Amino acid sequence: MKYKSFQVVVVGSGVAGLTAAINLAQKHIDVAIVTKDTLADSATNIAQGGIAAVMEQNGDRKEIHLSDTLSAGAGLCDVETVRVLVTEGPKRVRDLIQLGAHFDTDASGHLAKGREGGHSFARVVHAGGAATGREVESSLIRFLASLRVEVLENYFATDLLYTTSGITGLMAVDALGEMTNISADYVILATGGAGQMFPLTTAPHQSTGDGLAMALRAGAACADLEFVQFHPTALAVKGQPKPLISEAVRGEGGLLLDHSGKRFVDELLPRDVVSKKMAEKMAEEKSTELFLDVRNVENFASKFPNLDEIVKKEGFDPGVDLLPVAPAAHYLCGGVLADPDGFSSLPGLCAVGEVACNGVHGANRLASNSLLDGLVSGKRVAERIATGVKKASPNGVFAFYAEESLSNQVMLEQSANDHIPLLYLGDMTSPDLAGRIGKKFHAEAREDFLSTFYLTTGRYLAMSRSSEGLLEAEKQLNELSELLPEAFGRKDAEMVNMILIAKALIASAERRRESRGAHIREEFPDSDERYRVRLVHGAKEMLSAI
Ligand code: SIN
Repeated sequence: MKYKSFQVVVVGSGVAGLTAAINLAQKHIDVAIVTKDTLADSATNIAQGGIAAVMEQNGDRKEIHLSDTLSAGAGLCDVETVRVLVTEGPKRVRDLIQLGAHFDTDASGHLAKGREGGHSFARVVHAGGAATGREVESSLIRFLASLRVEVLENYFATDLLYTTSGITGLMAVDALGEMTNISADYVILATGGAGQMFPLTTAPHQSTGDGLAMALRAGAACADLEFVQFHPTALAVKGQPKPLISEAVRGEGGLLLDHSGKRFVDELLPRDVVSKKMAEKMAEEKSTELFLDVRNVENFASKFPNLDEIVKKEGFDPGVDLLPVAPAAHYLCGGVLADPDGFSSLPGLCAVGEVACNGVHGANRLASNSLLDGLVSGKRVAERIATGVKKASPNGVFAFYAEESLSNQVMLEQSANDHIPLLYLGDMTSPDLAGRIGKKFHAEAREDFLSTFYLTTGRYLAMSRSSEGLLEAEKQLNELSELLPEAFGRKDAEMVNMILIAKALIASAERRRESRGAHIREEFPDSDERYRVRLVHGAKEMLSAI
């Protein structure tokens, strides 16, 4: 066992984690980054479309960005936190430019802006056409190198360490299988989402929900896990993750066609609506893919050089061929409940970026709001840590904790006030992983295990869910859990994490007997005002103590 100690440990190295670490180091706070592969291995690095921000007034306004975000979020956004996002967002984009990031400009030298689904204006700043994430990630990493931040690459965080008064650090295992006990006053989870839970995803191999699973095991409140966003246009080719064809392409005139060559949806509606229409169309046609027609997108190759390269590598000529596409798991809208500064219900534990549920995405994230959220929350968490505070504030998503005994009427009144009640579902705490990590689980057995897991998640937990399917999924996952080995390596630990999240997702999806945003229940096709609540897992005492 090795021992290390820092004031703050950031887990994960995408936009949110890097931004937090940079801002902490600039305040001379002793900070380390723990990341399970290399620094650049993150969802940010493959993010395409861009960063939504109202950089100049030109008809567009922050209030309009706010209202677009709220409509995409289908009634479950936290208005206060979205206001923070759209107000501070443009300043954070300017900070990035100051750090050295280059965004695309138009002929007059102003930032070029793209339009994406759900946006009333073209307001998405981008780099390299649709290679924005790579520019953001590389600029942050370059800048980080000039600061005093310890970087622990190839360290896989397994468990949080905490007492009744809060976080004391975490356990991580290095590439050689040796455990390290890392003590810290604060742990910032910036571990991204859990797209790898699904057989079709655009999320990178790293997205196995490790931070979320650690938080669930420790009893930190986690919510909105039923809202898994499916991106409409993943290229339907072999392999995982599926290459994404950015929504920005539809903003430039790309059309969605069925097998008879007809359009069937307004391509610029929010992505939950487009994905749902695609699922209906595929069911009607009994097909597994539809088509994106980019033949009329002017200068496709020069506007989107990375996409041109991706589709050509897969054997398609974008000037001639229709591109086969299908919806794929893209983003987890829910996560570790966090106040507008990223503080969770477990004192000293923070969450920023995709792993967090701070209410900015609600039931469905607006396109290109995620890099933005990473920049804004990454900065805010560092500012707040610098004050020495450990506890979350009763603001944002924590504004209203609903005891189950509350009447529907009171809940409706509160949600009408823009405070979404937190409705407690139960505790998902479970044994730590650390004691079991060590020996390797046979790779072959793991492949079998994973294909069975994918059969369950793909069939019952993906875009459309039914009560019968959820019950069956729960049964299958319980059976699968029985087969987990006593001791395992990192890949097996990732499976344990994904199973835990899948179980929490099932509990939330079962309880949400309505369809809203990214969550579709076959028996309840409409949204129901009584479900304008956040369904929460975690230790009740911590939640009610905020
Ligand atoms: C895209 O480029 O379509 C993805 C952007 C996002 O997920 O916000």
